[in-house]
Amino acid sequence: MRTFTSVTLSLAVIGHASALSFNIPSFQDAIQIPSFAQLKTLLTASTISSSSSPLLQLHKNLIEIPSITQEEQQVAQWLANYLLEQNLTVETQVVGDPANHRTNILAYPGKTRQTKILLTSHIDVVPPFIPYRESGGKIYGRGSSDAKGSVAAQTIALLELLQKKEVAEGDASLLFVVGEETTADGMLTVNELGLEWEAVIFGEPTEGKLSKGHKGIILFDIEVHGKAAHSGYPELGKNANHMLVESLSRLLSLELPQDEILGNSSINVGKFEGGVAGNVIPEKASAHVVVRVASSDHEDVWERIEEAVKADNPDIKVTRGTPFYGGQVLDVDVEGFDTIVCSYGTDVPNLHGNHKRYLYGPGSILVAHGDNEHVAKTDLIEAVAGYKKLVKEALNPTKRPPAIYRAPPVQDTESKGDL
Ligand SMILES: *[C@@H]1O[C@H](CO)[C@@H](O)[C@H](O)[C@H]1NC(C)=O
Ligand SMILES: *[C@@H]1O[C@H](CO)[C@@H](O)[C@H](O)[C@H]1NC(C)=O
Ligand SMILES: [Zn+2]
Repeated sequence: MRTFTSVTLSLAVIGHASALSFNIPSFQDAIQIPSFAQLKTLLTASTISSSSSPLLQLHKNLIEIPSITQEEQQVAQWLANYLLEQNLTVETQVVGDPANHRTNILAYPGKTRQTKILLTSHIDVVPPFIPYRESGGKIYGRGSSDAKGSVAAQTIALLELLQKKEVAEGDASLLFVVGEETTADGMLTVNELGLEWEAVIFGEPTEGKLSKGHKGIILFDIEVHGKAAHSGYPELGKNANHMLVESLSRLLSLELPQDEILGNSSINVGKFEGGVAGNVIPEKASAHVVVRVASSDHEDVWERIEEAVKADNPDIKVTRGTPFYGGQVLDVDVEGFDTIVCSYGTDVPNLHGNHKRYLYGPGSILVAHGDNEHVAKTDLIEAVAGYKKLVKEALNPTKRPPAIYRAPPVQDTESKGDL
């Protein structure tokens, strides 16, 4: 059973005490930041020192604790303690087998766990671990951009809003999940909480721009079963390679959706194998394919793909895997942000509900999974201002037309999140 359990009262009390002694002064540093627009000109990276900035200190701690997917326990525990020290109520939700000690973290001011707005990101990272390093105004290390930059900036944004009494209990909470980079089991488990929000602000590297959307994903395997024979006597066999090539040719000539916002769908035949030797008619052939769908109607696209690939040939088997979701059109009704369209997958479709969906964060996806992963200090600071603005605007009821797109439920928990 997966249930949320509150962290023990004694821990919470310790947290309050230390918040009183050191938390408040340390926020003075962060609050000096003048305005969203002026940031880049007023602050040069070299003037910001990690040790005097709660934001950079938090970011550093998060990166220094390795947290490759499946091994998020240590960073989750550290972050839960940190949030308790900041006078938030912290709950942990077990994900998967309790023996693995993997937990999501929900944190909120006071006693009201159901808030209007949710700030969320993920605490797992892709392998391998890359140590923290500062150089020339940039911070390097695994997760610096994807997504510990978002985790740190969302946390400091909420703390500063509380400090300035711009948000109150019941307004906004933080949710940090495990497993985003592989199966999305963390966010899928969040659906069991029974909570719902008016707006959810997802943190992923979007270069500090508000994302208009991202494509959906259909992943599938093709298996062809032929009949082996001597290559001199083709009439005695059935060539699996030929059948696969024809099948892929039909696939590649399909007209897939093009969308004004999401762009064009794309097909990647990523792996392709078959046969044993030039003089043997191949008995087996297979291919692994990922289609990026630029349409919210992924079911329709899938039907057409299946039809084209099989063409009623009983020797061709098509198996759909996960992830399997349509293009996500996101909310961008907050002024003052540049926009971007993303081609990567996120946890956005994995959180069910009719909330508004914003996707925003510091850093670029282009370096996110590489060995050069980094984020600029100024971008982290700008993201704090960006998240604060998003929270305040989302709380403003005059600016709340209905959500533009309802996330279809993702049923399969075996999905591959950040493909
Ligand atoms: C801690 O949080 C509680 C509940 O939101 C609040 O009443 C109290 O003033 C906070 N204490 C400090 C030191 O911020
Ligand atoms: C989408 O494909 C069309 C051709 O079908 C092409 O003209 C257009 O430039 C493509 N758009 C993008 C964004 O790649
Ligand atoms: Zn990510």
